[in-house]
Formats: sequence, structure tokens, C-alpha cells
Amino acid sequence: MSMTLAEIKTKRQGLVDEVMNKVTQIEKKHGVSRQALNLMKDEVSMLAKYPELFVTSEFEPVQRGTFKDFVAYRLNKEDGTERALYVSLALPGKTSPPHNHKNWAILVGLDGVEINKLYKADEAGFKQIDEISVGPGVGVALTGEDIHSIHVQGNGDVPVWQIRFYERALELQTDREQFDESGKTEHFPPNKNTKDGINN
Ligand SMILES: [Fe+2]
Repeated sequence: MSMTLAEIKTKRQGLVDEVMNKVTQIEKKHGVSRQALNLMKDEVSMLAKYPELFVTSEFEPVQRGTFKDFVAYRLNKEDGTERALYVSLALPGKTSPPHNHKNWAILVGLDGVEINKLYKADEAGFKQIDEISVGPGVGVALTGEDIHSIHVQGNGDVPVWQIRFYERALELQTDREQFDESGKTEHFPPNKNTKDGINN
């Protein structure tokens, strides 16, 4: 039997609250190391086992050509931190240049695929070091200094859905840097197209 929207919302919020609590416990125990981020990623990935709770008609994609073809609906409650967990919808063809976040970030696929390319910038120069196909249940955890670019796959205007979890809410990520091929940086402003996904 299919769930009502009210049942979906209740179940989803319960799972999101649970993941937020677990992340807090992981940080208490391990700090914010790469190992800790990977443990957090495992918790966030748990949500992707329930796409029916996240990929719903409550959340609408943007119209092509607006807000860089991206919208994120915030699903976690205020808890005194700046953390924000979103369900995001991006349109096929959307890309971002290589950039860092200056805060940690965890991305997990729900529906569709977003390719993440990872880069390294040091004295030796700027180069790509990895590529991860972030599809359903597949995640990537980034430290504040890790550099990635995104490349949304798919066809037409069928959105690619992800869970995105950040140390700081998207609108607070005003210190990100983007990189060109030589590793030169410039300011990379945040995408502020976020909406309330709890009371929408
Ligand atoms: Fe990013």
C-alpha cells in the first residue's frame, strides 16, 4: 500500500533527525577527520535507501535557465549549528567549475547521475585525480579544502536528485574558491536557491 504524503513527511523527518544526531555523535567522537567524514557519509547514504521518501512531487525542479538549473530544499531542523541537509534537484547539462567549499560537504545520489571530478592543487600544479559517478546510493565526502567539479548527466529536463549535506548552509558558503586550469583561484559565490523543505 502506498503511503500518504503525511506519512512520507513523518517518516522522512524521523530519518533525517536520526542522521543529524548520528553525525553529531561521530563529530564528538572523531572530530572532523577524513575518517569521520566517511563515517558521516555512511550515515547520510542510509537515507538513499528510501528514495520514495525524498523523490516526491513535493519538490519541484527549477525552470531551465533559472538559478543555474538548481534548487535545494532544506530538510533538517535548526539545531544551533550551521549544518544543512537538502534534497537537491539539478537539470541535465548543469556543470560547475572546479571549486572548494571551505566547509565539509557530503553528496549522495538518489535518482540519476552526477559525475564528480576531484582535483589536486599544489606546487606541482593543478590536476584531476579522480572521477566518481554519484548515482543512487553512491556518495562522496569532501573536506573544506577538497576540490571538485560537477557534471549533471541525464536527458531533457528530467532532474537528477541528490541528498547534499554541508557543514554550513549553502547561503553561508560565501568564501568558496573556484580554480582555473593553472590552479589560479577566484571567488566562487554560493548558489542561494534554497527552500524550506519541511514546511513547503
Ligand atoms: Fe560543490
